[in-house]
Amino acid sequence: MEKITIEGGRRLHGRVSVNGAKNAALPIMAACILAHGPSRIKGIPDIADVRVMMDLLRCLGMTVERSKDGSMELEVTRPGETVTLYKFVEKMRASICVLGPLLGRWGRAEVARPGGCVIGDRPIDLHLKGLQALGATITQDKGNIIAEGGDLYGTEIHLAGSFGPTVLGTANVMMAACLAKGTTIIKSAACEPEIQDLAHFLNLAGAKVSGIGTSCLTIGGVERLCGIDYEIIPDRIEAGTFMVASAITRGNILIENARMEHLEAVTEKLREIGVTVTEEDGGCRVKGTGDLTAACTSALPYPGFPTDMQPQFTSLLSIAKGTSVITEKVFPERIAHVAELNRMGASIRKEGNTIIVKGVDYLSGAEVKAADLRAGASLVIAGLAAEGTTEVRGLQHLDRGYERLEERLAHLGAKIKRVVDQPLLHMPKPVGVMP
Ligand code: UD1
Repeated sequence: MEKITIEGGRRLHGRVSVNGAKNAALPIMAACILAHGPSRIKGIPDIADVRVMMDLLRCLGMTVERSKDGSMELEVTRPGETVTLYKFVEKMRASICVLGPLLGRWGRAEVARPGGCVIGDRPIDLHLKGLQALGATITQDKGNIIAEGGDLYGTEIHLAGSFGPTVLGTANVMMAACLAKGTTIIKSAACEPEIQDLAHFLNLAGAKVSGIGTSCLTIGGVERLCGIDYEIIPDRIEAGTFMVASAITRGNILIENARMEHLEAVTEKLREIGVTVTEEDGGCRVKGTGDLTAACTSALPYPGFPTDMQPQFTSLLSIAKGTSVITEKVFPERIAHVAELNRMGASIRKEGNTIIVKGVDYLSGAEVKAADLRAGASLVIAGLAAEGTTEVRGLQHLDRGYERLEERLAHLGAKIKRVVDQPLLHMPKPVGVMP
């Protein structure tokens, strides 16, 4: 087992470059199932989730290789494989985004149904509703969802639930609709930049998607898509994580190729609490100077404040003057980081889906454990600012979405390293145990 240790209290300075977006890379890799011929994709990060998707696509009959320049080539070389095993889905829920392209290309998809996770139940009813509306028959057998439909037909689909639109649900239905007969209209579609990126990829490959970036997507069915060269957008959540890391350490860093237009809600909130954010050299500079002040925010679908930045912001607001209130409207149960931050001296309580943060003067280093990806990022961020040593365990979650995070933070001046955690070889004998 590994852990990250951080000696807090160092201001970050220098520059860091943002990798391609995980949440764009995964569905775009899956979209290559739809294409005839090879696609070469630049900017796909080298993270655990991407490695799971590479293995999964290989099991689905694709050749997937990384070349020396870091780009990835993907091509269907064994046509007609349609079964996605639970061993992939249990590692990565986003495996579900092969459902739409498999159904669209081969008329059949069998994908293990994802279970819940630490941030909630995470149903897939809207994915299935959308595919059914296109004419697919959905059944479940031995824990697997089986979608079948030789011919899919375009129709109008409303794809929102009580929490708003679904990101991967929109991706699945959009991908299946590309090869359907006629026109599909997806109302209440997700507008996230990663969905926009997927739509741009599909269009370059020959699809007819319009309304990109709005909540109404129109998809004209085409006969076939072809392989293309494409470059993934930079990861706004990774950029946002570095922004918060700079802010919490009163640092001054330039985040190269961060796309400011994707970070408006994050930038606005940082400025509101006293952080200086400026556009510079095709990226953004984030300076934490004076005191931080409390703020209220709600995690919402794009263009609202991203739920994937909520835990990192909770860390930041834990040392802001006053009381902050964060309402989590996308994943109401995304609160795994709160108890761990309190171990570091934060004063945070939960009321339903609301996180109430009473700012403290300082955080203290402690041993903490990440229960999910963004919780892991929030604990590393807290450790950068805390007095003394913080040890973060549960790195398998962090590594799902960040490439060499500790190395890049060390390059910015943080005292941080990854070490192998020694297991307890001799358990101490229990003392005074009651029979
Ligand atoms: C994607 C992102 C994830 C991000 C999330 C919200 C990827 C790989 N993951 O996840 O990082 O946190 O968007 O921005 O892109 N829901 C239903 N029924 C469904 C589907 C979803 O009720 O069929 C609910 C979910 O439980 C949740 C909300 O809708 O409350 C949003 O979930 P969704 O947008 O689907 O998240 P993902 O696409 O899984």
